[in-house]
Order: sequence, then structure tokens, then C-alpha cells
Amino acid sequence: MKTQASTVVIVMAVGAFVFATADALRASPVARTTSIAYADGAAPGFSGGFGESSCDACHFEAAVNTPPGQVTLTGIPERFAPGTAYPITVTLSRPGMMIGGFQLAARFEKGGAQAGTLAAGPGEEKRIKMEPGAIQYANQRLAGTALTGPGSVKWVVVWTAPPATGAVVFHVAANAANNDEAARGDYVYTAVATSQPQ
Ligand code: HEC
Repeated sequence: MKTQASTVVIVMAVGAFVFATADALRASPVARTTSIAYADGAAPGFSGGFGESSCDACHFEAAVNTPPGQVTLTGIPERFAPGTAYPITVTLSRPGMMIGGFQLAARFEKGGAQAGTLAAGPGEEKRIKMEPGAIQYANQRLAGTALTGPGSVKWVVVWTAPPATGAVVFHVAANAANNDEAARGDYVYTAVATSQPQ
């Protein structure tokens, strides 16, 4: 009996230690920014377009676009003028979501090459970052995960249109997350939009 009692004490002590460590990580902004990699923007290539997976490659709690919730793209012109800058708003909503993230890419429909350039909207530099490369991916920063309305978050990305060589397709994948610092319990939404040359 004596042995069993001390085992219980040890198990409880270990449990308390795990709790204390998790609390310390949550409380420390340094630990948070260094350990939370994905919340600070996903890796490139998860926009859901041109054969790419979307965020659901890892956030697979539910099927993509499970209601209630959606991601929308507004501000994409039906016809674009080369060199013109168009502010595009990405809006992610799902009742009860705690934080959100997204990835957006703009590519020529034919061939999938980068079409024009993407940049953080005015005043959005602390919320949005670009992954440079052959294809530019716009992603939220950690500071950009915070909700901007009840059950929703918006980001503004400026798209500067390319030469009028063909139609441009935009793919966005977004994650309505529960802020548990893990990939589970999150809901992924995707959307596609097209813009034709003038
Ligand atoms: C390769 C796997 C992987 C992919 C793909 C991925 N994530 Fe994640 N994501 C994770 C993991 C692991 C975590 C938990 C740890 C962390 O936050 O870094 C996470 C956490 C997050 C969180 C915080 C979740 C919470 O509840 O605290 C957000 C927001 C997020 N990811 C956004 C995205 C978006 C947006 C995409 C798609 C564009 C994406 N992720 C794609 C693995 C992934």
C-alpha cells in the first residue's frame, strides 16, 4: 500500500509540472514567438491551387469549406489594367473562431507562373508578410491572426497587375482556428477568383 501511495504522489507531481510548463510557455511572449512557427505564416505552397494542398494537409479536423464559415476575396477586377494596383480584401469568417490565417497567390491561369506582384496593404505590414520566390505567397503574421470583427478577420493585400498576356487566377486558403497552438480543432476554407486582361 505504501508503494502505491507514493506512486500516486509522483504522478500528480509530474502532472503539475506539465501544467506549469504549458502555462509558462503561454505566458511568455518570447517562447510564443519562437515556438509558434505556423501561426506566424504557413510554409509556401499551401494555397490550394495548381496541384498544391491547402492548409488541410495538416489542419484536417473537418472537410474543407465545412459550414458555417467561408473565405471571400473582394476587390479583384473582372478585367485588369496592366500596372494598376488593386487592393484585395481576404475575409475569413466562422462563428466562434478565435484566430485566423491565410495564404494567397496570383498566377497566370495558363501555366501557373507568377502574375503581377503582391504586397501588404497600407498599414498592414505588421499583419501580413510575403514569402518571396518564383511564386509569391502572402501570409498572415502572428500579429495578423487576431480577429478584426466578431467571428471574422480581414487582411488587405495589394495586387499590382501584370502585362495583359492572359487570365490571372487567385487561390486563397484560410484557417479559422481555435488558438490552442496546435493544428487540431481548426477549420479550413478555400476560394478561387479569376481576372481577365482588358
Ligand atoms: C505542414 C503542416 C501545416 C500546414 C500545411 C499548415 N499548418 Fe498551420 N499549423 C501547423 C501546426 C503544427 C500548428 C501548431 C503549432 C504552431 O502554431 O506553429 C499550426 C498552427 C496554425 C495556426 C494557429 C492555430 C491555433 O489554433 O493556435 C494558424 C492560424 C495556422 N496554423 C494557419 C495556417 C494556414 C493559414 C495554413 C494554410 C495556408 C496552414 N496553417 C497550413 C501545421 C501546418
